[in-house]
Formats: sequence, structure tokens, C-alpha cells
Amino acid sequence: MSSEHNKIYIVQPGGRLQGEIRVPGDKSISHRSIMLGSLAEGTTEVSGFLEGEDALATLASFRAMGVQIDGPEDGKVTVHGVGMHGLKAPEKELYVGNSGTSIRLLSGLLAGQNFESTLTGDDSLSKRPMRRVTDPLALMGAEIDSNDGKPPLKIKAGNKLKGITYTLPMASAQVKSCLLLAGMYAEGKTTITEPAPTRDHTERMLTGMGYSVDVQDDTVSIEGGGKLTATNIDVPADISSATFFMVGAAISEGSDITLKHVGINRTRIGIINILKLMGADITLSNESVTGGEPVADIRVRYAPLSGIKIPEEQVPLAIDEFPALFVAAACAEGQTVLTGAEELRVKESDRIQAMADGLEILGVDAQATADGIIINGGSIGSGEVNSLGDHRIAMSFAMASLQAGGTIVINDCANVATSFPNFVELATKAGLNIDEIDG
Ligand code: S3P
Repeated sequence: MSSEHNKIYIVQPGGRLQGEIRVPGDKSISHRSIMLGSLAEGTTEVSGFLEGEDALATLASFRAMGVQIDGPEDGKVTVHGVGMHGLKAPEKELYVGNSGTSIRLLSGLLAGQNFESTLTGDDSLSKRPMRRVTDPLALMGAEIDSNDGKPPLKIKAGNKLKGITYTLPMASAQVKSCLLLAGMYAEGKTTITEPAPTRDHTERMLTGMGYSVDVQDDTVSIEGGGKLTATNIDVPADISSATFFMVGAAISEGSDITLKHVGINRTRIGIINILKLMGADITLSNESVTGGEPVADIRVRYAPLSGIKIPEEQVPLAIDEFPALFVAAACAEGQTVLTGAEELRVKESDRIQAMADGLEILGVDAQATADGIIINGGSIGSGEVNSLGDHRIAMSFAMASLQAGGTIVINDCANVATSFPNFVELATKAGLNIDEIDG
């Protein structure tokens, strides 16, 4: 896996981003297309599937549970659904690598099966909190052993689940989705209230496959015992991957880039809203809806940015975009203040600390706080930073080089392949001066 062969990025300063590119498929939707396609009756044809390690880990898990899945080839995957009760016991542990989405969503789905299973992951995943899923699943009647609240998760068989009414303690689409998947196997109704809106791809795909979910304001309910009908899924380009190019163009004079067919689901567009508040020049065109998800081409032209106080209601809508936004803040005039984002501390790395440390090495005044960061915009210098094996930290520092005073060396970049396997190629095509070497 990626952690065994390290990669180092060496990025030269200057440059600008231009042209039209299509970034890989949405990671969240790719995961869900395999999960729900596997449980559906009939054959689901997926196009635009993300061939990154995280989504492939989900795909491998379902193959290990007896689902025939053809591909991926050029983003096309065919999932031969086995129905709600057609999964088979895996012969060994299900290893999901770096993927929080795989482990948390699968824990809910597996809690409803009549076979035992164990979910494991890489070093980073093995340090991430799982009580947020095991606690509510226990309330539903599941029995899951963990390593003091961390993976591996051992899910016992044969416990009949019952629906619960639950308020999420944190804004988390993974926890919400986990409980919706478990709810399909529970007796009665499962009702989940979220403290703030989070991505709703699970709800949309369930609805698209004929499983009714009731959404009322901040509350979503599902009845157990339904079924899914296969459908075709066109996965839009991932706005979280597009983000690096949006920020890169926003900070480098002369940039003008268009990102094609990007998912602009209202629960994912915090990056657009926040960059616009900072003064970015962003326009959308070719808006349409595909497979229940809105998409558009996003054009970003350079414009000077200003520091802002980031509105807290935007935080869950941009939760994966903060490493890149911190680079935008480092290039903006004035101070940017982020609060209410303590969830960033339990992502693939502690993203607040990782970015504060790296920015400081590059000469930026960035102070980590318990639930956010304070960044005083100025110039970015040069130096050697560590991504801590976090794909989004690696790609964010790569874009920082567009405004840097000298070369930026970024260590531990192999995990970029979890979400954006052709990042170096596309970034080079767009105008970034980036080399990748084995580390
Ligand atoms: C995801 C939800 C978010 C996000 C992650 C993908 C999903 O995690 O950070 O990259 O696909 O549901 P949380 O639920 O932990 O916020």
C-alpha cells in the first residue's frame, strides 16, 4: 500500500494555472455507488468512478463479500447487485487502508448482516475515533469490539438491530450515513438529527435507487426492511479535488482555469462560498443535474484575496477544503480566522497542526487554536514540509508554491493516490512546476 513506498514532491515557485481540466470522480459518491450498487437488485453501471485507493478499498471489500464487480476501466464500473441479504461472509479481515468513509459506513452496513466481520486500516486510520459510530450502533443493538475506540472493528453477527432516534454529537456525514445504512436493516424507524447540514449523497442515492428517506429540516428518517433497485450512476468530478486548482488559480496572477463537470451539491460548496467571501473571481456555467447530483463547470480567474472571519455555518460545507483554504489565507491580505472546526483535528492527520507547522516552516504567521487557526496573510517562503501522509496536506502545499519565494519540498506524499491518483500529471498540465520522486 501507499505508506510502504513514499513519494516526495519538489515544487518550483512561480507559474500560473490555465486551461480546462477534469479532476477525478467524487470520492464520497464513488464509495456509495459500490456500497448501494452491491445491495441493489439488478446491475448498476457507474461512470466517472474515482480509481483512487480509498474507493478501491471499498470495491475490494464488496468483492471479498461475494459481489461481482467489473472494472474499473476508464472510470467505468459494473456492480452486479446481490440484494439486501445477498452479501457473503468475507474469508478474512476487510482492510480499508486510509479510508475513514469505508470503515465508518461499512460498520453500519455490516452491523446488519448475519455474519461476523472485522474492519482494519492503515496507521493513520488505526488512530482515528470510531466511538462516534460504535456508540449509536450499540444503541441499535449491534455488538462491536474496538481497540479502545479505534480500529480494528470486530462486528459480531446475529444481533437484530432496532431503529433509534439519535442526535449526532458532531456534524458528520460518515456517522449519519453509517446509521442510515444500519437503519435499512433495523426493525422500525431510524431517525437522525444533525447539528449542521452535512453532505447528503447517501440520502440522494438511496432515493435514486427507490429506497425512501424522509428529510425534514435537520432530521432524516429511514424505515428498515426496504429494498434498492439498481440504477446508473454518473459520478461528477470531486469538488474537493477541484479545490486545489481553485485555490491555485485564486492566488497566482495570470491564472484562468476551468474545472469541468464538478459536483456542486449545496452541502459541498463551502469552498466556493468562502473563496468568494475572500474576493475570488469564480463563475459557474453549464449547470445541470446528473443522477440526482447538481454539476457545473467552475472557472476561476486570479483576483487579489482578503482575509476574513470564516462563517461557522460554512465549516461542514467545506470540511475537506481547509488545508487548501489555509494556503489561500496565507496569500490573502490581512487576517483569516477559523473557529468551530475541531473536527479537522481528527481527519487523516490533525489538519490544523499539520498546516500550522508547515506554513510556519514556509515563513507564514499561522497560529493553531483548539478549534481552528489564525493566519496573517503575507508572503510564502520556501522550505521542506511534511504532509504527515495526508493527501490533502500534500496537495495544498504543492499549490502554495505558485506564490512561494523558492522551492517547496513536500515529504510523505504517496497517499495523494487515495483521492487523486493523477494529481501530478494534471497539475503539470495546468501549469504547476512539480516533480515527484521516490522517497
Ligand atoms: C465524508 C464525510 C466527511 C469527509 C470525508 C468524506 C463522507 O467526514 O471529511 O472526507 O463521504 O461521508 P466526516 O463525516 O468525518 O465529517
